[in-house]
Amino acid sequence: MALGFEQIQSATSYVKDRLGGLEPTIGIVLGSGLGAFAERIEGAVSIAYSAIPHFPVSTVEGHKGRMVAGRVAGRAVLCMQGRVHGYEGYDPSEVVFPVRVLMACGARTMVLTNAAGGIGADFVPGDLMVLSDHINLTGRSPLTGPNDARLGPRFPDMSHVYPSTLQRHAHDAAKARGFSLRSGVYLGLNGPQYETPAEIRMARTLGADAVGMSTVHEAIACSHQGVPVLGISCITNLAAGISKQALSHDEVKDTANAVEQRFVGLLQDVVARL
Ligand code: HPA
Repeated sequence: MALGFEQIQSATSYVKDRLGGLEPTIGIVLGSGLGAFAERIEGAVSIAYSAIPHFPVSTVEGHKGRMVAGRVAGRAVLCMQGRVHGYEGYDPSEVVFPVRVLMACGARTMVLTNAAGGIGADFVPGDLMVLSDHINLTGRSPLTGPNDARLGPRFPDMSHVYPSTLQRHAHDAAKARGFSLRSGVYLGLNGPQYETPAEIRMARTLGADAVGMSTVHEAIACSHQGVPVLGISCITNLAAGISKQALSHDEVKDTANAVEQRFVGLLQDVVARL
């Protein structure tokens, strides 16, 4: 069944009924191995995805499947601990259903985080990269099919998906903590296989600095609804061919875990600035 406006509304009313009057204005999606941020949420209310009407449930190891609402630095946030991906067999409209529910719950700024392979010059595993833009090379779009004008226009502009003001907040927050962030273009592919070295050479030629299997569809859905996105990638590994080692999900999880506390602190300070 296609997930449209009615399904968004029914999931939203289920979630809102459990927020105890909290009115979240910031939506956050926590990617692979970055879920610890949810533990910093004060007065946390958590809701299992499996309990929310129509909500897709992640099958990936390292992704918890719950929404956590509460306050961070005094700001009301609604956070997804784990997401679903196209490679799990979900349609792009299902992949973006959760962010559409976050927006319907009141999110006016979206923070999308992910684990990604590093392509940019001098990138090292453990770097955090602010997305300056993205390239959607999945060959698919969550806006395929009839357009629902209640969500946004048929042909949305994509010139300012990741506004520089939001990027600046992230860079400033990192600087105040004594480290710097990378900045670059995220290229989204379907996966689930990691890339070949030839595909990474192509990605580099296309101007990508990091490559991953999420985020781009969610960012398109946000942009469709006029919601600005801050994207942060945790560079968990060097991309295929740059790294001498074979890639593995264990490496991705291990690096994300090693960076997690730095990432969590940064995100806390970023939320305070939004
Ligand atoms: N490629 C694609 N997705 C990823 C990678 C990668 O190297 N690392 C983490 N997610």
